[in-house]
Amino acid sequence: MTVAEALAAGRARLASAGIEGAARDARWLLAEAMGVAPERIGVMGPDAVGPAAAAAYDAMIARRAAREPVARILGRRQFWGRDFRVTPEVLDPRPETECLIAAALEEPARRLLDLGTGSGILAVTLLAEWPEATGVATDLSSAALEVARANAERHGVAGRLRLVQADWAEGIEGPFDLVVSNPPYLAEAELRDIAPEVRHDPGMALSPGGDGLAAYRAIAAAAPRLLAPGGRLIVEIGATQGRAVAGIFLAAGLDDVAVGPDLDVRDRVVSARRFRERQRLT
Ligand SMILES: C[S@@+](CC[C@H](N)C(=O)[O-])C[C@H]1O[C@@H](n2cnc3c(N)ncnc32)[C@H](O)[C@@H]1O
Repeated sequence: MTVAEALAAGRARLASAGIEGAARDARWLLAEAMGVAPERIGVMGPDAVGPAAAAAYDAMIARRAAREPVARILGRRQFWGRDFRVTPEVLDPRPETECLIAAALEEPARRLLDLGTGSGILAVTLLAEWPEATGVATDLSSAALEVARANAERHGVAGRLRLVQADWAEGIEGPFDLVVSNPPYLAEAELRDIAPEVRHDPGMALSPGGDGLAAYRAIAAAAPRLLAPGGRLIVEIGATQGRAVAGIFLAAGLDDVAVGPDLDVRDRVVSARRFRERQRLT
């Protein structure tokens, strides 16, 4: 079988399973099976696919046809230009979470806290972008913390990141200049309608149950204690949660509360700041 034939067969199988972007996914999976860069596959049409690569490709196409995301099959995901390890124990990082990084990078921070770190994308990316910074990252899942540790090591920031198993910020002492979180935020009722790909994410990474806002309430309650005066809190939200989360932050006594859009102009992040004492007095 040639590369061109393998691509055509894989694309047809994925398309008939209803996969959008079937051609792109087939290219990625064949490149992985053959151990070449995906950009090269396009010029390898007449080349032969060896029996081992063909078997590996076939197995990966079967997994993708069963709606497993490509990042889970490959065990890695690109985020803010870096490669992160992804295992079944962590959320497959979403491209839209890069909006939170963009918001965070608007102001430098020396001490940061990432609540519900999962694969570690937020803490690891920010520490890699800010070589002087140190950070703490928590997760309730010890398996997720192992993945975050591997990613911190991979990107050379493990010496500046303390990973703690905790229920949000329980037992964590501040002060921090920046607290970030992409917590589970689907309401319980929304879980019924999630795409088959999303079912591969751990349940505790998707929803806190109920109205989906419990994590924001816990984080907002802890934020005034954790933040240095003038420090910022930035969280990712679901597209319809901006008003509710802003209300939770205001009720917790936070200042400068703002809801920001993602590139599709849907609400995606809510940011807030702890008053500087100076402002409180005026
Ligand atoms: C939506 S995932 C986000 C992971 C990662 N920050 C990202 O953006 O890809 C939410 C994370 O919160 C963690 N989590 C859920 N409940 C938690 C709790 N009570 N305390 C700490 N972490 C929790 C989950 O294990 C999961 O890793």
